[in-house]
Amino acid sequence: MDSFLIKGGVPLHGTVEISGAKNAVLPIMAATLLTSEPCVIRGVPNLSDVKFMGQILTWLGAQVNIEGDTVQVRAKKIKGQGDYDLVRKMRGSICIMGPLLGRLRKARVSLPGGCVIGARPINLHLKGFEALGAKITIQSGYVEAEAKRLTGGTPFLGGRAGSTVLGTANVMMAATLADGVTVIESAACEPEIVDLADFLNAMGAKIQGAGSPTVTITGVKELHGAEHHVIPDRIEAATFAIAAAMTNGEVTIKRARADHMHAVIDKLQEAGVIVERKGADMIVRRGSRLKSSDVTTLPYSGYPTDAQAQMMALMTLAPGISIITERIFESRFMHVSELTRLGADIQIEGPSAIVKGGRPLSGAPVMASDLRASAALVLAGLAAKGTTQVNRIYHLDRGYEQMDAKLRKLGARIQRVDES
Ligand code: EPU
Repeated sequence: MDSFLIKGGVPLHGTVEISGAKNAVLPIMAATLLTSEPCVIRGVPNLSDVKFMGQILTWLGAQVNIEGDTVQVRAKKIKGQGDYDLVRKMRGSICIMGPLLGRLRKARVSLPGGCVIGARPINLHLKGFEALGAKITIQSGYVEAEAKRLTGGTPFLGGRAGSTVLGTANVMMAATLADGVTVIESAACEPEIVDLADFLNAMGAKIQGAGSPTVTITGVKELHGAEHHVIPDRIEAATFAIAAAMTNGEVTIKRARADHMHAVIDKLQEAGVIVERKGADMIVRRGSRLKSSDVTTLPYSGYPTDAQAQMMALMTLAPGISIITERIFESRFMHVSELTRLGADIQIEGPSAIVKGGRPLSGAPVMASDLRASAALVLAGLAAKGTTQVNRIYHLDRGYEQMDAKLRKLGARIQRVDES
């Protein structure tokens, strides 16, 4: 198992190029199951989650070729059941269900369990499939959706924490091949949903309103092959922006899509970070001093839960009290105990973490527990005095393309070592 060894205290300087968005590419890869024709996806990040989705598509019968940042898929003939263990391992693979139901009228996958960031129910996905006329059965660890005929419906996908991103993706994909018109109310508005809708429309789907809470899908008889370039990863961009601020450096973030990052930029500015937009790039540096700030995670266009841990790392350096409230996933605070190991003063009170910032961080061995918690620990390690060892960085490799190499290019002293 690999870990990162970080010698902290070096201000980051230079330019970093943002990779394609993990959370856009996974449902887009799943969407290729909707057609028997070849599809080409470009700008794909080299991530273990992408390879994993490739394996799932292959298992289902598709031909998958991953070369550089291009993925080609031809799902000429496919089966309706995902491999139990493959699907169970990656929560994001639930989004094969919509395409399988759309194309084959039948989808059977292992029921995803919870994970370290909280319960991960799929009741809203299933509610959406039911609204299209599917019958749902849950048995022996599998969930099955089956429909003799899929027909347009009006599912409302709002839940306790707002809408569901992959639920919206799933229902949207199934509805592309349903008879009649589907109107998803309280749809997720994330840019990754817009990217998926763009790909589906390029395949011949008729989707309007993606990016708003009301998405209208007029079913078509069949979809054809298409080419698509994935949007840049707004969470990777946020992570590098925070790295620049935490190390007191100055980083130009190329392909940052600031228009997808309004809430992150607003909170960075409130925290005393200077963010300049220059065409498609963003230049980020710390202002005269960091300020404490309150952040609440919300569905898009609010502050993203996937950048909560990284913002908490930044707040450990800002003098004063910051309150960080997590409204999407109830236990997404696994990074708190590890940040404390580095010298941070953080208390959890219900859904909030109270950060008494401004104490210097000092290096220590810490354990990564999930993707974004790991990113926060790397950021804290870059700012800490001395050496930080972040163990179990396979979590990071799921969602950040060559994070260590990109940080080294900015001057960071970070090495990948085998911890065993
Ligand atoms: N929820 C329900 N019922 C459902 C589905 C979701 O109650 O049927 C609840 C969840 O428990 C949660 C909230 O709705 O409280 C939002 O969950 P959502 O379904 O939107 O999450 P997701 O689609 O499973 C995607 C990303 C996550 C990201 C969330 C929220 C992918 C592959 N995953 O998950 O990304 O945190 O949206 O933005 O797109 C990450 O990249 O680190 C990551 C975890």
